[in-house]
Amino acid sequence: MQIQKNASLKELNTFGIDVKAKQYIAVNSSDELVHILKRFYASELFVLSGGSNILLTKDIEATVLHIQTKGIKVVDETENSVLVESQAGENWHQFVLWCIENNYGGVENLSLIPGCVGTSPIQNIGAYGVELKDVFYSCEAVHIQTLEKRIFTNADCKFGYRDSVFKNELKGQYIITNVVFQLTKKNHQLKTTYGAIQQKLDENPHQTADIKAVSDAVISIRSSKLPDPRVLGNSGSFFKNPVVEKSFFDLLQEKHPEVPSYKVSESQVKVPAGWLIEQCGFKGYRKGDAGVHKNQALVLVNYGSASGEEILQLSKAIQYKVHQTFGVALEAEVNLL
Ligand code: EPU
Repeated sequence: MQIQKNASLKELNTFGIDVKAKQYIAVNSSDELVHILKRFYASELFVLSGGSNILLTKDIEATVLHIQTKGIKVVDETENSVLVESQAGENWHQFVLWCIENNYGGVENLSLIPGCVGTSPIQNIGAYGVELKDVFYSCEAVHIQTLEKRIFTNADCKFGYRDSVFKNELKGQYIITNVVFQLTKKNHQLKTTYGAIQQKLDENPHQTADIKAVSDAVISIRSSKLPDPRVLGNSGSFFKNPVVEKSFFDLLQEKHPEVPSYKVSESQVKVPAGWLIEQCGFKGYRKGDAGVHKNQALVLVNYGSASGEEILQLSKAIQYKVHQTFGVALEAEVNLL
């Protein structure tokens, strides 16, 4: 175990915020993790994975554990389906590509989402009509204080929209060490109705519509709208799409007939936060190095040397204006520190 003092976290968070950790340890195996957990009090630790869903606003006065465990393998299979186990530190998109190469279906719509496998259940990552919960079988996690290992089933995780038990009652208590996915081996159920996927597939009528084609379509759509964090610091959607009462939505639609929406239930409607933010004039806005992306107003960006505090202040200005204009409260999707 190597402890680095005063380590910069700039390269380890996709916003590219330059803060320091008092101590930093790269964790390469589950055994090493348990060893470290025995040595430190839980309150002295801060767990970092892909750094893709966090806004760091200050130096971290704790020991940062950077989970880098690797390995993907099949743990069980039937004629039609397969259970694939991935260690927490695997890069999410590399995992998706591995599944596609092996012709395992289910995660293709989740191509190119930044981050690691181990944190994917925490916020139930989702895109283009698929959420992690649709393919999640189980995960193993270790309790930070008791070191007890626990298997969480899909039901145990209490998945919701960008939400799970790990963001609520068990927040900060467990470190996920591996995730098992249930995927298809044949008769893949392609989900192509969301957004522009079908349109992209239709552009190449001679290509077989398979999981690789869907993944390629998603990569192409995402690349056209969402900034690449390696080029422009960002954390994907900064806010959740707000869910409002149908009666409230009807009034909003009377004033703005063009407002996009997704039905959640008979009484609730989801309104795209990107649309609300754009209406408030923030799309493409920039103050110093903190800004709102020009193609997707839901994505806040760091043009280079913005501090976490500057991005946070911008997010607050957006929340204020959206609330003042539409009476809708936007909730941050990224974790704020
Ligand atoms: N829109 C605008 N202006 C904008 C952005 C969006 O008017 O600046 C409108 C679009 O025209 C469209 C609607 O809002 O009618 C929805 O936009 P989009 O399809 O881009 O998706 P989103 O609701 O903004 C969600 C997820 C994304 C995911 C996409 C595709 C959340 C918080 N975000 O965004 O997830 O990739 O759908 O499935 O649910 C992420 O979580 O980091 C993320 C990128």
